Amino acid sequence: MATPYHLLLLLLLLLVPLASSSADREVLLALKEAVTNDPAAVLSAWSSSSSSDHCHWRGVTCHPSSSAVAAIDLPAASLSGALPALLPPRLLRLDLSLNNFSGPVPAAFLASPTLRALNLSSNRLSGPLTFPPSNSSPPCPALAHLRLAANFLVGQIPAALAQCRALRVLDLSRNVLEGALPRALGRLAALRVLDVSRNSLTDRIPQELAGCRDLAVLVLTDPASPGDQPEFNAFLGLLPPEVATIPTLQVLWAPRANLDGRLPSYRNSSCSLRAVNLGQNYIAGPVPPWLGECGDLTFLDLSSNSLEGSMPAQLNIGCMKYLNVSRNSLSGPFLSSMDSVCSSRLIDDDVLVYHYYQGLVGNALIGNPFGSMLGDITRAAVHDFSNNGFAGALPSIDLHLGENYSYGLLLNSNAFNGTLSGGFFGFCKGASGIAVNLSSNQLSGSLDMVSTCTALQAFEAAENKFSGSISHSIGDLHLLRSLILSGNNLTGEIAGRFANLAALEVLMLDHNRLSGSIPPSFSELAQLSVFDVSFNNLSGDIPYLRHSADCTFFVGNPLLSSCLGPNASVPLSPSNNRQKWTQRLGRHMTRSKILMVIVAAAATAIVSFILAIVLFFVYERRKRAKIVSFRRKAVVTFADAPPELNFDNLIRATSNFSIQNLIGTGGFGATYKAELAPGYLVAVKRLAMGRFQGLQQFDAEIATLGRIRHRNLVTLIGYHIGASDTFLIYNYLSGGNLESFIHEMGSKRVSWAEVYTIATDVAQALAFLHCACTPRIIHRDIKPSNILLDEDLNAYLSDFGLARLIEVTQTHATTDVAGTFGYVAPEYATTCRVSDKSDVYSFGVVLLELMSGKRSLDPSFSQFGDGFTIVTWGRMLMQEDRTSEFFSPGLWDTAPKYRLTEMLKIAASCTSESLAIRPSMRQVAARLKQLRNEQ
Ligand SMILES: *[C@@H]1O[C@H](CO)[C@@H](O)[C@H](O)[C@H]1NC(C)=O
Ligand SMILES: *[C@@H]1O[C@H](CO)[C@@H](O)[C@H](O)[C@H]1NC(C)=O
Ligand SMILES: *[C@@H]1O[C@H](CO)[C@@H](O)[C@H](O)[C@H]1NC(C)=O
Ligand SMILES: *[C@@H]1O[C@H](CO)[C@@H](O)[C@H](O)[C@H]1NC(C)=O
Ligand SMILES: *[C@@H]1O[C@H](CO)[C@@H](O)[C@H](O)[C@H]1NC(C)=O
Ligand SMILES: *[C@@H]1O[C@H](CO)[C@@H](O)[C@H](O)[C@H]1NC(C)=O
Repeated sequence: MATPYHLLLLLLLLLVPLASSSADREVLLALKEAVTNDPAAVLSAWSSSSSSDHCHWRGVTCHPSSSAVAAIDLPAASLSGALPALLPPRLLRLDLSLNNFSGPVPAAFLASPTLRALNLSSNRLSGPLTFPPSNSSPPCPALAHLRLAANFLVGQIPAALAQCRALRVLDLSRNVLEGALPRALGRLAALRVLDVSRNSLTDRIPQELAGCRDLAVLVLTDPASPGDQPEFNAFLGLLPPEVATIPTLQVLWAPRANLDGRLPSYRNSSCSLRAVNLGQNYIAGPVPPWLGECGDLTFLDLSSNSLEGSMPAQLNIGCMKYLNVSRNSLSGPFLSSMDSVCSSRLIDDDVLVYHYYQGLVGNALIGNPFGSMLGDITRAAVHDFSNNGFAGALPSIDLHLGENYSYGLLLNSNAFNGTLSGGFFGFCKGASGIAVNLSSNQLSGSLDMVSTCTALQAFEAAENKFSGSISHSIGDLHLLRSLILSGNNLTGEIAGRFANLAALEVLMLDHNRLSGSIPPSFSELAQLSVFDVSFNNLSGDIPYLRHSADCTFFVGNPLLSSCLGPNASVPLSPSNNRQKWTQRLGRHMTRSKILMVIVAAAATAIVSFILAIVLFFVYERRKRAKIVSFRRKAVVTFADAPPELNFDNLIRATSNFSIQNLIGTGGFGATYKAELAPGYLVAVKRLAMGRFQGLQQFDAEIATLGRIRHRNLVTLIGYHIGASDTFLIYNYLSGGNLESFIHEMGSKRVSWAEVYTIATDVAQALAFLHCACTPRIIHRDIKPSNILLDEDLNAYLSDFGLARLIEVTQTHATTDVAGTFGYVAPEYATTCRVSDKSDVYSFGVVLLELMSGKRSLDPSFSQFGDGFTIVTWGRMLMQEDRTSEFFSPGLWDTAPKYRLTEMLKIAASCTSESLAIRPSMRQVAARLKQLRNEQ
């Protein structure tokens, strides 16, 4: 029976939470208010009507037996809008990842006294990451998980993050953050995961990071997955030894991070490393033996560095799923520890680490050259020792990975001599698939042992000295899909038992000394699509083949009856014929065919989860295609563009990019002049681009370029991006470019004042790009044709930022040197390492041209032999005290000689081969400025 006392109690129980939770409710409604677009009506039930209990709203979790909100989880809900300024007072977790929120990360989020997990990854958040002004209480006392990946955050990583002492996970990857990694982060003693990959970070990696005594995952760069945002982090110097040897570190990921120096030669502490990726850096010295003590190490990528010496014998190769040391200068015979037993410790303790390990390692395995031939990557291992100087006998590698794994071994392009013994194929036992590449070594003897490896799917041994005949028993390799033995010394006949190889897709036996006829049973090989027997001594008829119809695969066999493929009916003109032969000799075409075939074959064997990944990419591509078509015909403009600037007008005014309007061509595309209204001229640069990779990234990059303004930079007014065409719109400059100006110096006198103005203008523009603008920009292609002039001969630098733009948005961004021969700094040309000092070099070359009226590779230098440029010429004249001969004749007669000589000295220091001697652009600009007042 309800007494009045009971009723009162009931009332109190109802009212207390209601009163204390009204603030929570208000904050939730403010969040709903801030959402401008909710296409899936996720927040439809979030209503101010008093009858609705906010603890039951979608995504809301309240503290037990209270109405205070404990968590808001609305990931992947398609929400757009800004983030609200306030959070519920007792909120522990906020997950708004995978939405479309824009604007800044509210400072209040980072100041919440209760928040433990904040996940705003994969939104469109922008601006710098700011903390509330620090007062007495430290911000973010409880914050353990901070994920802000895949947004558009700019500026530096704030050192104030170090005040969030509880941080365990800090994921800032895939933003536009720049500057150095703050030293203060080393104070985060609880940090387990730090991911700063795919930003624009620079500078040295602070050794203070070693203060994170619990760090398990450190991801500094990650250029891996295609179709995603590319990597621009480029650090300076070496990976500090203290950081590389943090005892708790399990995943160390810094491929293509611009690191140099050496790896620490010893370590003081035990090693927990499981996955190390330092591939594609500039690391020199030996592979440190202590890696052999890392018993859990299963992934090691040190490829494409400058490592030398031998492989440490202690390294437990047989236990490693992925080992890549290709493209180094490693040498010596090859020892692998024999009696190794793999540690069976799994990553059980830490879901977080496991997640990173799987993600990063999985990507690398999927990307291996054997592709999906290796099947399920969780049961695959790949070891790549190719492109080194390993010599002596072939190694014998025993794998300890259990049964039914597949294995790829690349030993190609080394100096292995010796023969192929049965011991080499020890790893075949118990394997379900094997792919081996031994091409381009000095191996000799017979190939008989190959047929003992019954799991063999691909075997390459081209360009060796193998001799003897191809054993009949090769017909027992039922899994064999690809066999490449080109360029050996093989003799005898092609066995009829090849026809047993039902899976065979690629068979290349060209450039050997095989004789006899091609067995007619080859027509039974249904999968065979590349069959190359060119340049042997074969005779008889070419059997009917199901796929191969390319007659170039049969040339060079004088006794073979003529080929009747579809190509045979086309009469070859002599030049056509020669072209084909050249192609054959270059063996370029066949290689790419093999690749096609392997890719095709991959599709059939793909396991279901790889399929899922493919589907995902297809979906992504569709999505991108949709965005592109959606944008067709739109011109995006930055501030102050008149209405005449639109797509139709541009097409009309350039007469649909007609040659009459062409005013220049360059590495990034052709430029057209367009008069949009009487007297209103623009220059339209039509970008020579391939397939798009990241539209969002393109927008972000181009918006950055659009913001950059300087007196001596051409102004980017707008851009258009469409399915077939992408172009940039600049202000038009009527004075042509510096290339023509220099060219005309022979016939027209130029004055010191003109030369001086152009030189200082360009120097200031470059100094600005290097030092004063954000992000800092390295031009990478300074040359006279990229310097434009107006009527008064003021100079303007163009094409800045395009090297990066192209790289960011193209699927096949080249990592090649972007510059132009004759202007590229020697260290850039040889190492592809770009720095602001490479621009300084190119500027020096332009300065030399401007003073002499000669081109960098002037025809008059040919008398001095190859490789002689304006730089060598200038140096030679200076050494021989014939400086006056350097200058354009009119100039030397009229200009102040002291200043002219000083300017030559500046140019000489800019073009010094030593980076240390080369001044910075800021110093150059300052020195040129001084010159105005001297004598
Ligand atoms: C995402 O938000 C932006 C505004 O920031 C808006 O223009 C765009 O349409 C939104 N996209 C989606 C898919 O809602
Ligand atoms: C967001 O981050 C939190 C904390 O790291 C995590 O628990 C949650 O799963 C993440 N959300 C998504 C959608 O991944
Ligand atoms: C190893 O320990 C010594 C002395 O304790 C120290 O000086 C050195 O820096 C440590 N090396 C590394 C790589 O941590
Ligand atoms: C090894 O690394 C190089 C790049 O450094 C890459 O081209 C190659 O495909 C890698 N090998 C394997 C087996 O993944
Ligand atoms: C391999 O080369 C080494 C030195 O380059 C030589 O001593 C050795 O005899 C060679 N072995 C064979 C089998 O040719
Ligand atoms: C090929 O083998 C023959 C013997 O069968 C030998 O005389 C010849 O020198 C070898 N050629 C090469 C290039 O090794």
